[in-house]
Amino acid sequence: MEDKISVNTEKWWKSAVVYQIYPRSFADSNQDGIGDLQGIISRLDYLEHLGIDAIWLSPVCRSPQDDNGYDISDYQDIDPMFGTLKDMEELIEEAGKRHIRIIMDLVLNHSSDEHPWFQEAKKSRENPYHDYYVWRDGAAGEFPNDMRAAFGGSAWEWVPGVEQYYFHQFSVKQPDLNWENPKLRQEIYDMINFWIEKGVGGFRLDVIDQIAKDPDRRITCNGPRLHEFLQELSRETFQKADLVTVGEAWGATPELAKLYSNPDGSELSMVFQFEHICLDQMAGKEKWDLAPLPFGKLKEVFGRWQTQLYGKGWNSLFWNNHDLPRIVSRWGNDKAYRVESAKMLAILLHGMQGTPYIYQGEELGMTNVRYEMEEYQDIETLNVYQERLKKGYAKEEIMCSIHAKSRDNARTPMQWDGGENAGFTAGIPWIRVNSNYREINAAAQLEDEDSVFQCYRTLICLRKEYPVFVEGEFQMLLEEDETIFAYTRTDQDSQLLVICNFYDKTVNVPLEEQAFAGKLLISNYKDVERKMVLRPYEARMYWMGNRP
Ligand code: NOJ
Repeated sequence: MEDKISVNTEKWWKSAVVYQIYPRSFADSNQDGIGDLQGIISRLDYLEHLGIDAIWLSPVCRSPQDDNGYDISDYQDIDPMFGTLKDMEELIEEAGKRHIRIIMDLVLNHSSDEHPWFQEAKKSRENPYHDYYVWRDGAAGEFPNDMRAAFGGSAWEWVPGVEQYYFHQFSVKQPDLNWENPKLRQEIYDMINFWIEKGVGGFRLDVIDQIAKDPDRRITCNGPRLHEFLQELSRETFQKADLVTVGEAWGATPELAKLYSNPDGSELSMVFQFEHICLDQMAGKEKWDLAPLPFGKLKEVFGRWQTQLYGKGWNSLFWNNHDLPRIVSRWGNDKAYRVESAKMLAILLHGMQGTPYIYQGEELGMTNVRYEMEEYQDIETLNVYQERLKKGYAKEEIMCSIHAKSRDNARTPMQWDGGENAGFTAGIPWIRVNSNYREINAAAQLEDEDSVFQCYRTLICLRKEYPVFVEGEFQMLLEEDETIFAYTRTDQDSQLLVICNFYDKTVNVPLEEQAFAGKLLISNYKDVERKMVLRPYEARMYWMGNRP
């Protein structure tokens, strides 16, 4: 039986635009070189001006920072590096005054090994916290199996005191939590409810598809009890308030996404899935094994997600986050056409159905960085460098992958102005500022009506003004075309038409009639003629209908 199509817009997050902040790199208020909560508060006016509705804050809880906060040692306190609980309350309140909600990052797959739970757990097998983690018997040097951790090495670590291995999908300092244990689950719910009471607007759930693991069967992703756990989690916490919840799910397919984001609200609001963003790597290999972007496949993937979730789930729309390289360097052109291609990528994405996420600096067209190896800070980058050297890769080849894909590309300090350290800090930044900050910075773009910033601002305004952005049904056009990404979004009384030239060659596009029947809402070139000849990276968005 065909499922009922139910397009509904009563949820605030369906017309919202989210801005992601990586706190350590956003704004430093106390000049210790690391961004902090007061720094964010000082920049809220900028974000209000941009027009966003919510901030997704990467983790700010107490943490030894082995993985920059994705290793939490106290879920109910703020790391002193970022401020205090009082600062967090002030952030929630100050953001609220500007109609901006705060989305916290929940890291529920693992804790830090310095969390009191783990400190207890490793004391003895009888300790009540022992079963909060995933343990297997074995002998020193003989791993329970050959599973590997995402940041390299075995996924098992020996603890002599209990003569057992614990399981960790990420670093050795990020032991996996055991979701099979109902007591652990209850502690997690209590902690989430603590934050709900503090007034947060929602949660982003780190690698949520990996919580229901079964390492004996080598299952980490989409484990058998995953959706059962998510439904219980949602019932015990999220459903108590009007929140947005977004699950990071590398293993999601559109079928699974319909479960996660079921319009009945039984799990989450939406998933953050990566199918489109993993296309430029060799099939079956790691992200470091670079391959050109297969453009046809990109269109196919976006089209499939747009169509299959229509009325049955909800998409996140993104090019960037704190784990991904900068999109303008990756699939745009950060040299001759930086501004044009950054805007094209924004227009292409923001016309689609779903909730757009803007990662700090994306609205300025910030680019990748090319550090010397000694300057990289990210645990994943440092590990892959050593691992590949050992495997015999040439240094140049490794550096080429790192320049293209290191997570530090996204983590360079926010470029606020052309002054010292780009206005990020008056101290010594924890990671070097990208040297192009005099050319690319917020202060300059606020003054320039043709800037990338203004393009993002306009796109956010358009989403608020035209309901078709939220509700319209997606249809891909010119499916076989090898340079043009074009689609429509249609509702009862209007249609949006988006046409983007993804490359640097000028091309004719056979969509004159359709385009010129409407009005031009936005484009990335100033002088748009009544001709469907698209210049390098040219993007246009047309609208036709009776309102507004
Ligand atoms: C996904 C996060 O986005 C990433 O930054 C982190 O390293 C891993 N999960 C582990 O928490």
